[in-house]
Amino acid sequence: MGKSLTRKIIESHYVSGSMVPGEEVFIKVDQTLTHDINAVMTYLAFEAVGLDRVRTECSVSYLDHNLLYIDHKTPDDHIYLRSAAKKFGVHVSQPGNGICHTIQMARFGAPGKISMGGDSHTPHGGAIGMLCIGVGGMDVATAMTGVPMRLKMPRVIQVNLTGSLKPGVNAKEVILEMLRIVSIKGGLGNVYEYTGPGAAALEVPQRASITNMGAEMGATTSIFPADEQVKKFLTAQGRADAYIELLPDEDAEYDGRIDINLSDLEPLVSCPHQPDNVIPLREVERKPVQQVFIGSCTNTSYADIAKAALVFKGHHVNENVSCTCGISSRQAYRELLRDGYLDILVASGVRLLEIACGPCCAIGQTPPTEGIAVRTSNRNFKGRAGNPNAKIYLVSPETAAATAILGTFASAEEILGDDIGQLADIHEPETYIVDDSMILPPLEPKKAAEVEIVRGPNIKPLPVPDVPEDHLIAPVSLKGGDNISTDDITPASAEFSSMRSNIPLMSQYCYHRYAPDFAARARELGKSIIVGGENYGQGSSREHAAINPMFLGVKCVIAKSIARIHKGNLVNHGIIPMLFEDPADYDRIDQMDELEIEHFLTQIPTRHVTVTNRTKGFSFPVTLDLSDNEIEVALSGGQLRYLKKQLAQQQEG
Ligand code: F3S
Repeated sequence: MGKSLTRKIIESHYVSGSMVPGEEVFIKVDQTLTHDINAVMTYLAFEAVGLDRVRTECSVSYLDHNLLYIDHKTPDDHIYLRSAAKKFGVHVSQPGNGICHTIQMARFGAPGKISMGGDSHTPHGGAIGMLCIGVGGMDVATAMTGVPMRLKMPRVIQVNLTGSLKPGVNAKEVILEMLRIVSIKGGLGNVYEYTGPGAAALEVPQRASITNMGAEMGATTSIFPADEQVKKFLTAQGRADAYIELLPDEDAEYDGRIDINLSDLEPLVSCPHQPDNVIPLREVERKPVQQVFIGSCTNTSYADIAKAALVFKGHHVNENVSCTCGISSRQAYRELLRDGYLDILVASGVRLLEIACGPCCAIGQTPPTEGIAVRTSNRNFKGRAGNPNAKIYLVSPETAAATAILGTFASAEEILGDDIGQLADIHEPETYIVDDSMILPPLEPKKAAEVEIVRGPNIKPLPVPDVPEDHLIAPVSLKGGDNISTDDITPASAEFSSMRSNIPLMSQYCYHRYAPDFAARARELGKSIIVGGENYGQGSSREHAAINPMFLGVKCVIAKSIARIHKGNLVNHGIIPMLFEDPADYDRIDQMDELEIEHFLTQIPTRHVTVTNRTKGFSFPVTLDLSDNEIEVALSGGQLRYLKKQLAQQQEG
């Protein structure tokens, strides 16, 4: 049997371990990316390991998420990040150049490479045949040291696309359909590899909408073949030399298969409060909509915005709607400006925002009380837009434009009627405007050595966890439900995001919206355990959702299931993630019950731990779904301690 594309790339980067799905494999990482609201901890960790330069082919630091500068904190962080990048041989993409995933794929990506990014939507780059994996910031720091990275060898699922998208139906519909089929946690441990004639016809930015939002399925990543479309895209970017053809074998073996006929798709909408709550747009109740946001890394390529503009042409944003648009790159912005599409948007009453993530992570444009916000971004968790009582619906740019015009959910066809076919004529440019003047290249080593790292007053040292106690007695500081997201644990917003370099400050807001009394209670308890339901820690890769609880004394999380990136972050930051062997035991535990674990250090390597509920007087088994390497990291007291040991051994060897 032949090989999938995923297997070929992993094989070409193999260092050690097993390539059997579910087992641990170690791979060489070519590229890393970080972004401003997560990265300070990453570079503090890199500083702490003591290397003078990154050991990747290419590492890029993006200043792209929080550009509001509501006080001194974020500009201080940006100065720190720029100085750290200069010191350690990292590129910097300056504020206003674009959103990390769009820029990384267009300006640095290359088929067959492996990239790890400190952001869950790193799989965006899978659109050009790269294996791009979202991880926590400590993992990015590790990858930057050149140490081979652990990966649970994925199952590879073929997604066979046939047919073609009708005008008014966007690539967003493909990933919403996938979410409907797979669900928000059904992708755990999987790579989705898109094949077939339908895939071949999709342009790279369309593919990127699909791979980007594959993160919402909990997947390891998603990937398309490096074929003629990739060649066209890289050539249009002036980077034809980065192209190599890379396809799965014709008789490639897969671990599963999904078939989607693109011709059957119709406009879809993901309803609150989970991305897999997908229904046809025609079935959604036609309530008044207060906000429309066309933006984010998911859906704001040139063609996406041009199509939205054609829907707006000759119409005006409804008087009851606040409609904003944030384009994902300066490159696309300039092309849309040149071709008149931004003029159409502005004439229609659309407000153009800065080139940044912005509203996608609650940095501006918070919806009103009980408001309905319709967005082209990728997440609709409660509170994701900054207001937990608002409802977020996810749609394509075409649907968002039609909705902004009518003030209630509407399809592009309702606006364009028989002219809907004109949307099919919009394609990506043959040649993009290439201007990398807002990307600072790495300094040569001699100059880099002279750089002083600049640390503003908000940047506090990275807290380092203790090794686990052998005899742990700790109360349950929080009992949460299913699908707690990292947004629930560490809220996003301009205000909160700017605190991420200051754990003593930020930890005071841990679980701020989900359980406002948690931080004070955990601090008072000194040490504690969190109990969660299914899919604990889903969503954004932000490792602050592990660092803040650790700083507040949380020693373990016991849940029914834990999302992949968050589980890694917990291990990296010294919190032991454990799973109920019998989910019914979840119901027998209450907040503030006192739990006890004896001989923890000898139980951890067996992956079976007995926990006693001293308050209720019963014991229950939990399991550790951790690899050998993760067990070592857990026993070491987190990744930083482990990595330092590893690098010291390398030096001695
Ligand atoms: Fe930014 Fe939202 Fe994408 S925060 S990286 S635009 S998911």
